[in-house]
Amino acid sequence: MITIVNTQHKHIPQLVQHQQTCFPDLFSDVWMTPEAFESQLRVFPAGQHVALHNGQVVGQSSSFRCRYEQVFLPHDYHGITAANMFTNHDPVGEWLYGADMSIHPEYRGRGIAHMLMEARKGLIRQLGLRGMVAGGALPGYADYEARLRPEDYVAEVVAGRLVDPTLTPQLRIGWQVRGVLPNYTHDSAGHGAPASWLVWEA
Ligand SMILES: CC(C)(COP(=O)(O)OP(=O)(O)OC[C@H]1O[C@@H](n2cnc3c(N)ncnc32)[C@H](O)[C@@H]1OP(=O)(O)O)[C@@H](O)C(=O)NCCC(=O)NCCS
Repeated sequence: MITIVNTQHKHIPQLVQHQQTCFPDLFSDVWMTPEAFESQLRVFPAGQHVALHNGQVVGQSSSFRCRYEQVFLPHDYHGITAANMFTNHDPVGEWLYGADMSIHPEYRGRGIAHMLMEARKGLIRQLGLRGMVAGGALPGYADYEARLRPEDYVAEVVAGRLVDPTLTPQLRIGWQVRGVLPNYTHDSAGHGAPASWLVWEA
């Protein structure tokens, strides 16, 4: 039995480990640190959720509020999330920014991302927000980089002709693609990776 609850301080050590399990290829400076989780709970506790199984963290969702111009102009992960600290959170912002969502590899494909998305939608209804925006990783793009532009790869995934391990589930839980965010994340050598630009309107 999986339960979704708001993140509490006691979950932080598990969340730090969970990030590293779920994003093994991410550059370590992008992983959320204990200080980042503390900051997120300080600035917007209502936007932080965990999925628990027998009290253990098996899924996580992190979000904060933004203004229209913050999320509908090109942006990158580091800037929009203030380096994971969420200090860009705007208490009157009309859009929820989905900074992160991850499910433990052994718990994927069981509807937990669906459940976390429902928790976000409940928050959006409760606060009267317009919807949510996110930049979505494209882990399958590396195999197509030599022959497809990111926007063509995303279009193929949207059409169902290609399957991306992240974008395909995101489309199934309700996100729509608005476009592509070039150089959304960067590796330590400064090489940028694109992301899908995702929107869900209430
Ligand atoms: C993307 C992710 C959050 C999805 O979580 P999940 O709990 O496995 O998703 P769900 O079980 O709720 O599945 C949602 C839908 O996607 C489908 N799906 C899930 N994984 C899939 C895959 N690898 N390929 C194709 N379809 C998939 C499910 O069948 C389901 O479809 P349905 O509603 O029609 O039955 C999870 O794979 C993950 O944590 N990935 C690594 C971290 C990541 O990339 N996070 C996003 C950062 S932008």
